[in-house]
Amino acid sequence: MSELGHIDSRLLADRPRHIAIIMDGNGRWARARGLPRPAGHREGVKAVRRVVEACRQNGIEALTLFAFSSENWRRPRTEVKLLMDLFISTLKREVRDLHANGVRVRFIGDRTAFSPRLQQLMDETEALTGGNEGLTLAIAANYGGRWDLARAARRLAEQVAAGALDPAGIDPDRLGREVSLADLPEPDLFIRTGGEQRISNFLLWQLAYTELYFTDILWPDFDQDRLAEALAWFAGRQRRFGCTGEQVEQLKGA
Ligand code: FPP
Repeated sequence: MSELGHIDSRLLADRPRHIAIIMDGNGRWARARGLPRPAGHREGVKAVRRVVEACRQNGIEALTLFAFSSENWRRPRTEVKLLMDLFISTLKREVRDLHANGVRVRFIGDRTAFSPRLQQLMDETEALTGGNEGLTLAIAANYGGRWDLARAARRLAEQVAAGALDPAGIDPDRLGREVSLADLPEPDLFIRTGGEQRISNFLLWQLAYTELYFTDILWPDFDQDRLAEALAWFAGRQRRFGCTGEQVEQLKGA
């Protein structure tokens, strides 16, 4: 290992270990076809299926999908209900297949806001697939990056209050161990479909050094070929993690 230490592997890898996606554009996809928005979300589920499969085939270790943000409750009540029903029906339908394919499913976000039925399904899905060793599929539901950081701060505060932690011991590494997905490699590649170029309160902490890829493609049109384009773009990026380009080139040549 060089003087650059543990970031060597992230500097040198030309394939992401962890991909995080904001799946945007379902509504516009439907509108462009004269269909109601729910039709776009249903088509979005098909894209989820394709991308999970493509990630498995590409040997990606983890995929995190932003399925429902903590701000999405502001949508019309009928659309929120549709999305909840869609989560339930999708989970029920897909869980066996995901399990058979070795996918470990987990959920991040404040699930207490969901119906008992949906919470139960989430718990059961995690319990069933928790021992799998293939792709980790993290579904962000009622998730917000600021919520995640506030929760991490609260956890640390509780440990301080209990006398188990010295405030002087709180540094980025210690805080980073309390945020969601702390046990996974940080996302290497972030993809947002639908043309917007923002993070929208997704994984604020975890995306600090992630390569950001924005595409105009609407989520229901995203497939293995579009993923391949994003992976090719990623392979052409020079990741530096604060180092100089010369250091990185030297390391690559070593
Ligand atoms: C954004 O498109 C999409 C969402 C808020 C929901 C995403 C949900 C799915 C793809 C289906 C469920 C997924 C799982 C993992 C079960 P938008 O409605 O904001 O589109 P617009 O910007 O065109 O209006």
